[in-house]
Amino acid sequence: MGIILKNMPFNHLGREAMKIFLDTADLDEIKLACSWGVIDGVTTNPSLIKKAVMKRGGKVTMEEYIKEILRITPGPVSLEVIGLTAEKMVEQAKMLYRKFSPYGQPVIKIPINPSFGDENNMFDGLKAIRQLSRDGIPVNATLIMSPEQAILAAKAGATYASPFAGRIDDYIREQLGMKRGVHFQKSDYFDFSLIGKLAENNLSRIISSKNADSLSELYTDEEIVSATRLGNDNGIRSGVDLVRSIVKIFRNYGYKTQVIASSIRNARQVREMAEVGADIVTMPLYVLKQMIQHYKTLEGIKAFTADIVPSYAELFGE
Ligand code: E4P
Repeated sequence: MGIILKNMPFNHLGREAMKIFLDTADLDEIKLACSWGVIDGVTTNPSLIKKAVMKRGGKVTMEEYIKEILRITPGPVSLEVIGLTAEKMVEQAKMLYRKFSPYGQPVIKIPINPSFGDENNMFDGLKAIRQLSRDGIPVNATLIMSPEQAILAAKAGATYASPFAGRIDDYIREQLGMKRGVHFQKSDYFDFSLIGKLAENNLSRIISSKNADSLSELYTDEEIVSATRLGNDNGIRSGVDLVRSIVKIFRNYGYKTQVIASSIRNARQVREMAEVGADIVTMPLYVLKQMIQHYKTLEGIKAFTADIVPSYAELFGE
């Protein structure tokens, strides 16, 4: 007998199906997307809040506004703290959780490393995550840019870890001398397999131009070493690769922390995140809209509509 999946949170593999979160603080967007019935949660950050406030001409009563987001959203809503020390973050997280829990499911976003470069507070995010997790407050460890940071977030007990895929793609492209707005747009798909091939060709060209006597001479050659750094970030080849690595590590050790693929820029990236097993993908509204569209679907619906014969239309009373 087949397994009935309807209304079951787990699929036949015993894992929850991938969830879709909306990455916005715009109430109108949240209302609209939730009315489509595919949204499982919302993620916000201070920049997204700023955008939403500006859209309303600065006229937002923040507490009421956030309550409304929580009431509408059928799942977790990530709200970020603004403090940069563990003490402040824990205090703010508790305030947010206490204030907004009656209205929905707040999750507290804590930056994995809140330091501006100062060594003194670079572990404060982790300390806050550990404390809040022990207190039973769900945490979304944010601004994760490497698997190493994700491992620490999981060890500290974060409920969610948010790797910023699009920003890693930006970084890799920028290292190659590509400028956003000039050589690529924010929503452009990052073809990491093409970049990988180009980087490999470049490396082969450099290696073959050398007259080295030994492998160690080639291995330590500065030009070769810097060429190996192109097209990747410390071995991570793209934002999707970052998420793939984190998902693999978490599954290797049974970490319960769920991976929220974040900083998503286009629909193809969503598909690739699903392929690598992200638990959740959080995306802006325009990406959700991209997901539903296909030129052949448009062509098909037009053709089917044009082919409706009167006797078939009569069935529907038309
Ligand atoms: C994640 O939770 C962040 O809000 C978000 O995904 C960042 O995306 P951006 O890089 O497009 O700003």
